[in-house]
Amino acid sequence: MESILNNRPELAAEINKVAEVAGYLWQKGWAERNGGNITINITEYVDDEIKAMPAISEVKPIGATLPYLKGCYFYCKGTNKRMRDLARQPMANGSVIRILDDCASYVIIADEPVNPTSELPSHLSVHNNLISKGSNYKASLHTHPIELVALTHNKKFMEKDYASNLLWSMIPETKAFCPRGLGMVPYKLPSSVELAEATINELDDYDVVMWEKHGVFAVDTDIMAAFDQVDVLNKSALIYIAAKNMGFEPDGMSQEQMKEMSVAFHLPK
Ligand code: 13P
Ligand code: ZN
Repeated sequence: MESILNNRPELAAEINKVAEVAGYLWQKGWAERNGGNITINITEYVDDEIKAMPAISEVKPIGATLPYLKGCYFYCKGTNKRMRDLARQPMANGSVIRILDDCASYVIIADEPVNPTSELPSHLSVHNNLISKGSNYKASLHTHPIELVALTHNKKFMEKDYASNLLWSMIPETKAFCPRGLGMVPYKLPSSVELAEATINELDDYDVVMWEKHGVFAVDTDIMAAFDQVDVLNKSALIYIAAKNMGFEPDGMSQEQMKEMSVAFHLPK
């Protein structure tokens, strides 16, 4: 079958990573039905042939004007598509879009006219913000990790940096591999521009942010690294819950032990 991935091994490798992560999300129980979405900035892999590819959809509004995205290309999970299906067939459950010169609309160019995720305003606003800051992050992930979402049903865990410090203190690796911690976005309607704006604000200080009573949004250089940050945080949440289930409040690492980690690993916080 004709695919944009044919004879483009670097682009195919990125999309294969998306498929691999989609499988992990399903296996972890974080991707019920169509839950979660992924977008990847693939502009660096775009050649003249891709630039010349015609639109296979009508022009669609993003819902925001995003000046840094002019002429950019993204792979996007399709709305209402299942991660477990995307794991086997990434190009039947997602598509490649081109941002048009008005920076406020896009067209689908490959492989099939699969409509992008309903969370596109958040994903594209985040990519716009990343480019504006000169970031090398290319991947954004939204998923529904059970234990992290459960924490947000208690106001205490929504307080700034409370959950970050608690989760960092459960096991040393969490601070090492999610060094900027976990930001908090109070509940907003899924797919709304308000949710997108609150997300970009929080991502100035964090790589992973919680959407209260909904899920997480994470960014990193590639999708595997974004997944890893969520995975280490959720592992810490599981350790916390396991201790609570054994009937005690876990001690957590001390502030001195966490400080020692930051110095040894040259961590920002
Ligand atoms: P989509 O199927 O539109 O990607 O939505 C899934 C989701 O998790 C919305 O928050
Ligand atoms: Zn969601």
